[in-house]
Amino acid sequence: MTRVWNKSDWRNKPRIQMPVYTDEVALNAVEAQLAKYPPLVFAGETRTLKAQLAAASRGEAFLLQGGDCAESFSDFSADAIRDTFKVMLQMAMVLTYGAKVPVVKVGRMAGQFAKPRSAPTETKDGIELPSYRGDIINELDFTEGARSPDPAKMLQAYTQSAATLNLLRAFSTGGYADVHQVHSWTMGFTKGDNAAKYRDMADRISDALDFMKAAGVDSDRAHTLQTVDFYTSHESLLLEYEEALCRIDSTSGRPVAGSGHLLWIGDRTRQPDGAHVEYLSGVQNPIGLKCGPTTTAEDLKVLMAKLNPENEAGRLTLIARFGAGSVGDHLPRLIKTVQEEGANVLWSCDPMHGNTIKSATGYKTRPFDSVLREVQEFFGIHKAEGTIPGGVHFEMTGQDVTECTGGVRAVTEEDLSDRYHTACDPRLNASQSLELAFLIAEELSSARKEMQAKAG
Ligand code: PEP
Ligand code: CO
Repeated sequence: MTRVWNKSDWRNKPRIQMPVYTDEVALNAVEAQLAKYPPLVFAGETRTLKAQLAAASRGEAFLLQGGDCAESFSDFSADAIRDTFKVMLQMAMVLTYGAKVPVVKVGRMAGQFAKPRSAPTETKDGIELPSYRGDIINELDFTEGARSPDPAKMLQAYTQSAATLNLLRAFSTGGYADVHQVHSWTMGFTKGDNAAKYRDMADRISDALDFMKAAGVDSDRAHTLQTVDFYTSHESLLLEYEEALCRIDSTSGRPVAGSGHLLWIGDRTRQPDGAHVEYLSGVQNPIGLKCGPTTTAEDLKVLMAKLNPENEAGRLTLIARFGAGSVGDHLPRLIKTVQEEGANVLWSCDPMHGNTIKSATGYKTRPFDSVLREVQEFFGIHKAEGTIPGGVHFEMTGQDVTECTGGVRAVTEEDLSDRYHTACDPRLNASQSLELAFLIAEELSSARKEMQAKAG
C-alpha cells in the first residue's frame, strides 16, 4: 500500500536540532519566496545518481563524497570552490586508476550549511547565548544579535548554493574536468611524496591517452573523458528550507528534494519517529543515513523500512562513523541486521566524525592516523564479512589549512593555530586528502581483487 505523504507532515513530529524562529511572519515570507524559486537540482539527475549508487552497492563503482563540514558565507569564492573540486578530481583519479573502478563524485557542497550541535547554548565569561548552527541559521560572532536565528539567511544560502552549483556544472562539463587535464589539477602547495606519486600517475594516464589517440580509440566516446558527473549533497537538517524546495517530478509524479542531489540524516537526528526521518522518507532522491555507535539493530530495521520501503538499490547509503578502534564493535552487528532484512544498502565510511578530539592547544582536531585507521578497519570488516565497502565520506578542503594533525607533511598540534579556518569541524587539507586517496586506492584494489577471485 502506498502511503500518502505530504511535504509538511514533518511538522507534526518531534523536531530537534532546529532553530526556533520568533518572527513567524518573516519566516512565512521566506518560505513562500523559496517555494517560488526554481529547484537547484532536477529529478532526472537524482535518478541517474541513484543508478550510479546502486552500481556502487554491487561493487561496480565507488562513492567519493567530500567537502566542507559547513559552507560559509564569508569564505564563499570561486577559488575555494575550484580548489575543493580539483582535489576531489585528483582523489577520484587516484581511485579510478589505482582500483580500476568508476568513482561517483558527490560534493558536500552547494547546500551544506546547517549544523547540529552538541549543546543548544554556549557560555563565555558568564554569558549564555544560543549555539552557532551554521550560516543558513545564525552567525558565529558571540553576540545576541548574531546568534538569533534569522530566516532571511535561507535566501542567501539558496543564492550561494545556486552560484556554487552553476560553477560546479561549468567545471564539470566545460573542459576543466577533461581527463587530458590530469596534470593541471595539481595544487601548487602539494609537495613531497604524494605529489610525486600523483605526477607519476598523471604521466602514465597521459601516455595511455596518447596511445589511445594514436590507435584511433578516442573518437566516439571522447565526451566520457572530457566531462564528469558531479553531484551535490548536504545534511537535511533545516526542514523549513527543505520543504520549501520540495518539488514534484513531472516524469514520475512523485516528490523530489530540489535542494541537492543526495541528502542525508545526521547521527543526532535519526530518531525513527522524528521530523527528519519523516521528511526524507517521502522524497525520491538517494539518501544517506549516518550510523554511529548508538545505532541499534532495532532502530536500523525500522529506519530501513521507513526510508526505503520498496528496497530500491541506490536509494539508501549507510554512512558508518564509529571512530577508529570501534568499527569492529559495531559494523559487524549492523551488517548482520542488513543481511537479516535482505535490505539493499550501500555501505560508506565516514572516518571523520568518530575521531574528533580536543588538542592540548585547545583546537578541535582529528589525527590523520585515526582517520586512516578507521578506513582500514572498515575495509577489513567488509572483507571478513564478504560484503562490499562501497564508498567514503570526508570533510576536506582544497585550501592549505592546518586543522587535522598528521599526514606526511606532518601538521603538529602547535601548527593548528597557523591556518585553522573552519567554522565547525576540522577538515583534511589538500595534501592529506591526496595521501588518503592513495591509501584507499590500495585497500580498494585489494578488496576488488578478492571479490573478483571469489566470483571466479
Ligand atoms: C556531519 O557530517 O557534519 C555531521 C554532523 O556528522 P554526524 O551526523 O555523523 O555527526
Ligand atoms: Co562535521
